[in-house]
Amino acid sequence: MEPLVETDRVITSGRLEMPILTRDQLERIGNGEITSVAAELDVRLSAEWLEAVRWLAGMRARQLRDRPQDSAWLLRPIVRADTREAIGYLNFHAGPDDRGMVEIGYALLPAAWGQGYAIEAVRAALDWARRAYGIRQFRASVAPDNERSLNLIGKLGFVRTGEQWDPEDGLELVFELKVD
Ligand SMILES: CC(C)(COP(=O)(O)OP(=O)(O)OC[C@H]1O[C@@H](n2cnc3c(N)ncnc32)[C@H](O)[C@@H]1OP(=O)(O)O)[C@@H](O)C(=O)NCCC(=O)NCCS
Repeated sequence: MEPLVETDRVITSGRLEMPILTRDQLERIGNGEITSVAAELDVRLSAEWLEAVRWLAGMRARQLRDRPQDSAWLLRPIVRADTREAIGYLNFHAGPDDRGMVEIGYALLPAAWGQGYAIEAVRAALDWARRAYGIRQFRASVAPDNERSLNLIGKLGFVRTGEQWDPEDGLELVFELKVD
């Protein structure tokens, strides 16, 4: 496992905290064991949150076995700092590619929609990647009918660069953002 530096551990924003999950924690979540992970992070992980993230956590645990260099980039719960509840999650798909680009993915539990938490979390994650690793190019893939996600990335200034077929998710529009 690549050592995590202190700035990788928790991404914070005004209302949110996003602690990185270690490979061991990802494995436990993938196995449905959230009690110990919640205690370690001092967060509340609901059954609904587990249901939403379980498959992805297992996949990211397997990814880290082959690519320990991705350790700072993968899954983080999105935690409300006031209630300590996990209201969603975000992750980069991997560390920077050969163009220095990273792709972001995110989701909130439906009860947390419409309060600006997603854009706050994504903005903080992009800012962390820029400050900690000098990332200047970001990518996001969104289904054409996902109006909330299209709204979010449009507000962040992503521009459409193409489309792709994802074997699981079907047609996706591809967007990129370049920052100074
Ligand atoms: C995509 C997703 C994360 C977007 O969530 P969201 O709640 O719409 O996005 P935000 O948290 O940024 O909230 C935005 C809305 O909150 C409102 N809002 C309320 N308080 C706010 C605040 N303090 N700051 C900003 N916006 C606020 C805004 O009016 C804004 O809506 P508008 O842009 O129409 O004006 C969510 O729909 C989701 O999880 N979907 C399922 C998973 C998914 O599709 N993931 C993306 C795959 S590409």
